[in-house]
Amino acid sequence: MTTNINEMIPELSNPSVYMRDPQRVQEILQSMMKAGSNTLQVISDFDMTLTRFEYNGKRCPTCHNILDESQLISEDGKEELKELLNTYYPIEIDSSQSIEDKLPLMVEWWTKAHELLIQQKIRKDGIATAVGESEAKLREGYQLFFDHLHEHSIPVLIFSAGIGDILEEVIHQAGVFHPNVKVFSNYMDFDEDGVLKAFKGELIHVYNKREGALLNTGHFQELRTRPNVLLMGDSLGDLTMADGVQDMENILKIGFLNDKVEERKQSYLDSYDIVLVKDETLDVPNAVVLYLT
Ligand code: C5P
Ligand code: MG
Repeated sequence: MTTNINEMIPELSNPSVYMRDPQRVQEILQSMMKAGSNTLQVISDFDMTLTRFEYNGKRCPTCHNILDESQLISEDGKEELKELLNTYYPIEIDSSQSIEDKLPLMVEWWTKAHELLIQQKIRKDGIATAVGESEAKLREGYQLFFDHLHEHSIPVLIFSAGIGDILEEVIHQAGVFHPNVKVFSNYMDFDEDGVLKAFKGELIHVYNKREGALLNTGHFQELRTRPNVLLMGDSLGDLTMADGVQDMENILKIGFLNDKVEERKQSYLDSYDIVLVKDETLDVPNAVVLYLT
């Protein structure tokens, strides 16, 4: 008798779960399970993937928004950052424009926002307070997610177009920044007085994660004995996060579809193996991880 995927992982029959090809998901899971958890690595986006999109009907902040809304930014600066968000976020999630067309506009958004942040003379020692006072929230089930992966020594790469300093502080304050977690992101560069003067390295925005992955060959070289990947994202740009993985054997892609659901559902179903629609929890990723370990 063939097992049904919903018997393997009951959470896959949750009402938030959509799959174009459940049979294929089952095959990937079985193949990954057979290979063993010592061949597994997790690659996850941060904003709106590990963190909540909404809480009590209110939008939750991204790394950038944590700063935008903090006391580290002047009232005028807040206005300008809000305007940038209102201009460019609709473009980021617009399914009628190609990623190619959006690329220069995303570079423009990140560049303008980072310039504004630098003008604000943000102090390094204000970041912990800004994060502590923010409404940022990791998705329900985050503790199990991070603790379990740590206990099983499974490497977790958080690959974010947000701000590394902020996201590290979020997971640190939540008590889940374990040694198996590594971060690729945009990091702030402070001067000797602890004032933001620039951002380090190549800019990572929402649609150039492939380039970011290919710049980090050393990391993927270290993980070459782990050719099975669980990828988690909320943007179609997140699908390229595993492009640096060497000799990949299996990849299971879980996508959170948080916003503009009807317009974007088909494209998410076409590219993610499991689509979670307006699901604010990590229940499904946790069930997958528990199955695989
Ligand atoms: O962690 P992740 O890669 O998801 O971070 C990128 C997110 O940050 C984007 O989805 C974008 O909406 C958001 N962003 C923002 N403000 C900016 C630039 C990006 O909220 N200035
Ligand atoms: Mg995201």
